[in-house]
Amino acid sequence: MEDISLSGRVAVVTGAGGGLGRAYALELARRGAAVLVNDTGGTLDGTGHTSAAEAVVEEVVARGGRAVANGDTVSTPEGGEAVIAAAVDHFGRVDAVVNNAGILRDKSFGKLDWDDFHAVQDVHLRGAAYVSQPAFRVMREQGYGRFVFVSSNAGTFGSFGQASYGSAKAGVIGLAQVVAIEGERHGILSNVVCPLARTRMTESVLEADEALSPEHVAPLVAYLASEQCRETHQVISAGAGHFARVFTGLAAGWQADPTRVVTAEEVAEHMGRILDPAIHTIPLSAPEELEMLAPVVAARSAAGQAV
Ligand SMILES: NC(=O)c1ccc[n+]([C@@H]2O[C@H](COP(=O)([O-])OP(=O)(O)OC[C@H]3O[C@@H](n4cnc5c(N)ncnc54)[C@H](O)[C@@H]3O)[C@@H](O)[C@H]2O)c1
Repeated sequence: MEDISLSGRVAVVTGAGGGLGRAYALELARRGAAVLVNDTGGTLDGTGHTSAAEAVVEEVVARGGRAVANGDTVSTPEGGEAVIAAAVDHFGRVDAVVNNAGILRDKSFGKLDWDDFHAVQDVHLRGAAYVSQPAFRVMREQGYGRFVFVSSNAGTFGSFGQASYGSAKAGVIGLAQVVAIEGERHGILSNVVCPLARTRMTESVLEADEALSPEHVAPLVAYLASEQCRETHQVISAGAGHFARVFTGLAAGWQADPTRVVTAEEVAEHMGRILDPAIHTIPLSAPEELEMLAPVVAARSAAGQAV
């Protein structure tokens, strides 16, 4: 296998002042990238500021790497622009973006407060878009780019008390898939990592165990951020040395007679087949799903009719 190298490349890692982001920044720098270490340095709920990014830059430099700190928030369009502008100003280009910044404000759905809901969406989902759009424009000009979006099993599978976080993290996957589809013609690849590691975000639910250190996730991020990466449009779970694809599949399902509208009773009767995942396909875009869905839908779609 060819060495995974980021030599001569410029990487932006948001929320890299601690936890997983710090581990990503250190690994990308170790493999040769000049790294923009972004972090507002706030508390877990996103309030306050410290110089967390500067401390990680010192670590990178002490290990012989190149890095600069940036304290702009990802949670506004201006902040996202400023993060990417700082990378371009310091290093002249942007080759890889790791959308890692995150906060938590967990509450059960019935008690959800809209300020918390919006704050969480602003950092995870909107923040990923605010940073990625200016980066996408730079990458499009370069004809080269790598996006690593960060989701969570709370987004893919759901998690009690995490309506804000889970919905934002599911949205991140939708964003990443569109960036993958639109980026392909420009040499831009886009993938998602669902990490699992013990950080301040998870210390109340994960035991202190070296196997759960953020360093176990960083190799996947380094590969996805590198020129050697061949993947795009993928979602990969990573933690404790386990790496596995997470996918949305389309089951073979039940094909009813499309020339008449079936009854609700018929749908209920066939629920076993509708839900059976034993035979499934994994569409790589919405049009591909339409083609697979049923010949009748594909025919109508090809004829330009709404479906
Ligand atoms: N730890 C896990 O097991 C786990 C699981 C699933 C997903 N994640 C995701 O991984 C990412 C990293 O989380 P972590 O566990 O290292 O937690 P963490 O709290 O240590 O890291 C998040 C970082 O983002 C920074 N940040 C917050 N708001 C910001 C903003 N507006 N602009 C810039 N930086 C901001 C924080 O200051 C912090 O340093 C998050 O997106 C999180 O949702 C973590």
